[in-house]
Amino acid sequence: MLVRLLYASRAADAVDQDVLHAILRQSKANNPALGITGLLCCSDGIFIQALEGGRMAVNQLYNRIAADSCHTDVELLSYEEIGERRFAGWSMGQVNMSRLNPALLLKYSERPTLDPYAVSGAVSMALFEELMATASIVGQP
Ligand SMILES: Cc1cc2nc3c(=O)[nH]c(=O)nc-3n(C[C@H](O)[C@H](O)[C@H](O)COP(=O)(O)O)c2cc1C
Repeated sequence: MLVRLLYASRAADAVDQDVLHAILRQSKANNPALGITGLLCCSDGIFIQALEGGRMAVNQLYNRIAADSCHTDVELLSYEEIGERRFAGWSMGQVNMSRLNPALLLKYSERPTLDPYAVSGAVSMALFEELMATASIVGQP
């Protein structure tokens, strides 16, 4: 039983490379043993993260992450049962925002900014898939 969960949140403090690296370090240390794969995107103080794996593992990790004081306004965007993973290659891949094409954001939203609170979960997921396809993901499995 596999599920995919997508959520958005606002960083409590400014997010620099050290903060992001710390999150990715924790993810890479914990996620493989939990069978979790996914993607993390951070732009202008907003996180979007996709988690996929077994239902119980994803639910428990989401609850743990949601309770983290590093971010607020944690909002569930989408939750679905899936037949196969989309982010199987990453224990937690990071979207390289410097390689994000504004035209890709405009394709899905009114303005060329990343605002998951203003669009549907399906749109955020479609954006993630395009980012993957255009190889703007950094990070090892
Ligand atoms: C935006 C965000 C994403 C996170 N993603 C993960 C994750 O995928 N896996 C993980 O184990 N911890 C993640 N964390 C960290 C958890 O909230 C928590 O601090 C961590 O799992 C505790 O791990 P530890 O008990 O090994 O110290 C994330 C935190 C934030 C703020």
